[in-house]
Amino acid sequence: MEDRDLLRELEPTGERLLARHLATAKEWFPHEYVPWSRGRDFDPDEAFDADASPIPAGVRSALLVNLLTEDNLPHYYATIVSHFGPESVWGEWNRRWTAEEGRHSIVIRDYLTVTRSIDLRALERARMKQVSTGVVPQPPSLADGIVYVALQELATRIAHRNTGKLLDDPAGEAVMSRVAADENLHHIFYRDLVAEALEIDPSGMVAAIDRQVRDFAMPRVGIPDFSKHARAIAECGVYDFAAHHDRILVPVVFNQWRIDQLQNLKAAAEQARERVIKYIERLDVLAKRMVASRARRTAPAV
Ligand SMILES: [Fe+2]
Ligand SMILES: [Fe+2]
Repeated sequence: MEDRDLLRELEPTGERLLARHLATAKEWFPHEYVPWSRGRDFDPDEAFDADASPIPAGVRSALLVNLLTEDNLPHYYATIVSHFGPESVWGEWNRRWTAEEGRHSIVIRDYLTVTRSIDLRALERARMKQVSTGVVPQPPSLADGIVYVALQELATRIAHRNTGKLLDDPAGEAVMSRVAADENLHHIFYRDLVAEALEIDPSGMVAAIDRQVRDFAMPRVGIPDFSKHARAIAECGVYDFAAHHDRILVPVVFNQWRIDQLQNLKAAAEQARERVIKYIERLDVLAKRMVASRARRTAPAV
């Protein structure tokens, strides 16, 4: 189905989901979550001392990558406009979503600045580099786009929530939980939009789910040393293959979108369904192997 036609058919659902979002989302203020009394002036010659920070390196990597992703908002906004257009409910949703996402970088950066939890010069240099690079995932169609963001908002919610727990600081955990709660509302908007699109064009949507699940990667382009940070993030338990399989793919692709139960798919979509189900099974095997190997590495010597 053409993007234009799918968008038109989805419009009543988009209106219903936006109304639900506006009724559910709570107003909150970034400055009320920041422990300002822990702040002090910065001496430009004082270098960041990682050893003085109580935060594990993997959690620091997660904070950096999470925040840089929030900072890349202008480019996400532009990509969403390119699929949805600026008009009607879609434009309204995108602008509201942008305003909400803006709060995330404000509150996380203020928290990190006051607590000096990461190297703020390195963070600012990375932000400049990433936003100047201006690259974000570019799903090839509207169907691909809504599948990708449904998965990505949930992945972001899980990463923020786990990061908050590992901070071992009630103020930091409150910041990350608050942001994660927003990401959850964004996720359910897109998750339910995809569910409706599956009713309208099941074959086209299954093909998009297959592509996006197999290609899925957290935003990374333009983030310096991304691979090193991704390994540290997986190692400390913020986000790994097991979380991706157990908390994203199974609950969303099977329990919500029920792709294993769809009827009357065209031949190509039937093949796409088989391919993506096999991929998710293989990912599960790999995830379990990685969890077991991590447990062996971190087990205390007897
Ligand atoms: Fe966000
Ligand atoms: Fe979000």
